[in-house]
Amino acid sequence: NTLDDVSDLTGKTALVRVDFNVPMENGRITDDTRLRVAIPTIEKLRSKGAKVALLAHFDRPKGKVVPEMSLRPIAGPLSELLGITVGFASDCVGPAASDLLKLLPAGSVALLENVRFHAGEEKNDPEFAQALADIGDIYVNDAFSAAHRAHASTEGVARLLPAYAGESMRRELDALEAALGNPQRPTLGIVGGSKVSTKLDLLKNLVGKLDALAIGGGMANTFLFAQGVDVGGSLCEKDLKETALEILTEAEAKGCRILLPVDVVVAQEFKAHAPSRTQDIDAPLSAEDKIFDAGPKTVAQLNEVMAQSKTLIWNGPLGVFELPPFDAATVAAAKFAAAQTKSGKLVAVAGGGDTVAALNHAGVADDMTFVSTAGGAFLEWMEGKVLPGVAALEQ
Ligand code: 3PG
Repeated sequence: NTLDDVSDLTGKTALVRVDFNVPMENGRITDDTRLRVAIPTIEKLRSKGAKVALLAHFDRPKGKVVPEMSLRPIAGPLSELLGITVGFASDCVGPAASDLLKLLPAGSVALLENVRFHAGEEKNDPEFAQALADIGDIYVNDAFSAAHRAHASTEGVARLLPAYAGESMRRELDALEAALGNPQRPTLGIVGGSKVSTKLDLLKNLVGKLDALAIGGGMANTFLFAQGVDVGGSLCEKDLKETALEILTEAEAKGCRILLPVDVVVAQEFKAHAPSRTQDIDAPLSAEDKIFDAGPKTVAQLNEVMAQSKTLIWNGPLGVFELPPFDAATVAAAKFAAAQTKSGKLVAVAGGGDTVAALNHAGVADDMTFVSTAGGAFLEWMEGKVLPGVAALEQ
């Protein structure tokens, strides 16, 4: 059910789970993307006459009241974005929340204090879920990025009130469906990042679904090592050699072409502008040499496959993009993906961890078809897992 299925809400309270787990420095938000993506849902509910009560978590206070983890500093920036004063309740359940909501007129918005100040939230305690449900008449989940948590505010409460997917949740699910559920083929995945061990489930799921998969970042070293390539002193999980070989065999059996670096950028110091050289992967490396990026031949090969692909799903950078010049492969591939997307040849969906930062660094995040605001939830979805928050809405 989406918000299009809801008619008049005058006099009703919509309990809306958002993800305001935003980066914060000295009490100030440094990136308000997660606030901005919640606006369409809030506005739609206000236009239907609802009072909007926002439920969110911030950080990991572990069931205790931790003043530095209060959501209070978010009420101001949210008021500015909405152009109205957003009320703040010092608790998400009980009289603090219900009394404030009683006072507020139709069309107003209240932000309720961090749900994780209650131990019942992460335990998905039925009593706490009921206390949340007592605040509202309907429940809307607009927090895809928290949907991998089976918590009271993401899962339990959805079973107690008429439940709907918010606008951002719907956009996320539509984009992910277009990328991996029912994509236009051929499909290409790019998976980067440092360690294979953190992305095993993801790689196993993707090789069964995609036509091609490019593996980059530190994790590519483990695959190269498994194939007998000397990776010098590079980051490499040597104990995962067999696992890497199994993934390669499975990919071959399932018709998924694996693209690994054919050339690399090597340096000895882990710092920006460290002296570096580019070489083919069969050229010798010393024990001090470390691979920090994919080389231009690798990018050319990847872009050639991308040019033939209709759908791209991207998680993780191809090199140490935070330290130039080791951002070159990530930036070049991102720019090519953006150009293909802009000319209508590619549906490109990206998300998870560093990916958004890498695309922003390349200056092309806005040119992708969709960039997810989710970290862990995006990864779990790519792993093929059922997200409890989404499953509760579906039921
Ligand atoms: C996120 O920032 O990815 C979500 O808000 C989930 O946060 P969590 O990992 O603390 O559950």
